[in-house]
Amino acid sequence: MPSGFDPLARTLAHLPRCQEAGHGSKPVGTEPHGEDGVEMMGERDTHVPVMAGRVVELLAPALEEPGAVYVDGTLGLGGHARLVLARCPQAILVGIDRDPHALDIAGQRLAEFGDRVRLYQAVYDELPDVLAEAGIRRVQAVLLDLGLSSLQIDHPERGFAYATDSPLDMRMSPDDPMTAADLVNTATRSDLARILRVYGEERFADRIARRIVDERDREPFTTSARLVSTIADAIPAAARATGGHPAKRTFQALRIAVNSELDALAGVLPAAIGALALGGRIAVLAYHSLEDRLVKDALRTASSDRAPRDLPFVPDGYGPELRLLTHGAERPDESEIAVNTRAASARLRAAERIQEAA
Ligand SMILES: C[S@@+](CC[C@H](N)C(=O)[O-])C[C@H]1O[C@@H](n2cnc3c(N)ncnc32)[C@H](O)[C@@H]1O
Repeated sequence: MPSGFDPLARTLAHLPRCQEAGHGSKPVGTEPHGEDGVEMMGERDTHVPVMAGRVVELLAPALEEPGAVYVDGTLGLGGHARLVLARCPQAILVGIDRDPHALDIAGQRLAEFGDRVRLYQAVYDELPDVLAEAGIRRVQAVLLDLGLSSLQIDHPERGFAYATDSPLDMRMSPDDPMTAADLVNTATRSDLARILRVYGEERFADRIARRIVDERDREPFTTSARLVSTIADAIPAAARATGGHPAKRTFQALRIAVNSELDALAGVLPAAIGALALGGRIAVLAYHSLEDRLVKDALRTASSDRAPRDLPFVPDGYGPELRLLTHGAERPDESEIAVNTRAASARLRAAERIQEAA
């Protein structure tokens, strides 16, 4: 970690609603770059895009005009982007991902679309900076497919998996300063408990945090297996037998904290809604209730009128900015879940801008 900068303090200062410090967007070419480039593409580097048909159906009507801009804020391996670009031949893509490895692979996968593709390494709440750099003021569609890609989950060295012993990393971008090991080895017991309770909704947060602190005093954590067994030991046997993998919630919490995920999401939602042109559409796929709550609140707020409560009418300019395109959250059907278990927890919400942004 660089000296003079304390990412843990930054994460904790705002928990549960903290601020991600931007690290500047980097435009990226569509040609392979970086040490892993082509070589790391393999069978594991595929990602089946979730609810892809419905996502395309929701976004495509906004992308029919020449030069329409489609922002994919979570480009991943380009699965959704590829389908949108193929379905909307007039549209151009602004693809954003904080993970440079994902961008490498997406760049190769999308090469057939030539100069319709512009890629940026950035955290998605840097969207206004990315658009300014690209010389774009308004966009016609935004997709956020939250969470991890198969590239991150299936490569044990990235440290996201609790089922294989691997370095405790969990950073989506190697540029980020704090690893999961830094977090578990330096956070105070009460901060750790708070992270596990809020981000993991872990009911044994206090017990797990106490056990982690005892263990790290003996020897700092460096890999996942020792952390997994420490977590399992802290959970009462009866709960361990029934509650799914004992480390699941703790790993989710650490991942969210390491990547300041909810803060970035809280930042990108108003930015993305604000960037939509009239008739522009936004779709968001969330994979756990903390994410989905933020999405639901942001879309509900923007689709409600802003007139003072005591006024008997809605003055011009105070009507809703958005119209909801989904009723509640849409879920994948059983047939999709049967072939792609990662779709199981997906919740899709979408909306369309019906009033010009200020
Ligand atoms: C579920 S995957 C997207 C998969 C993609 N839709 C596809 O079909 O290939 C999520 C991607 O978003 C990226 N990501 C997550 N949080 C991000 C953030 N705050 N800013 C930028 N990228 C982010 C991850 O690195 C990952 O590559």
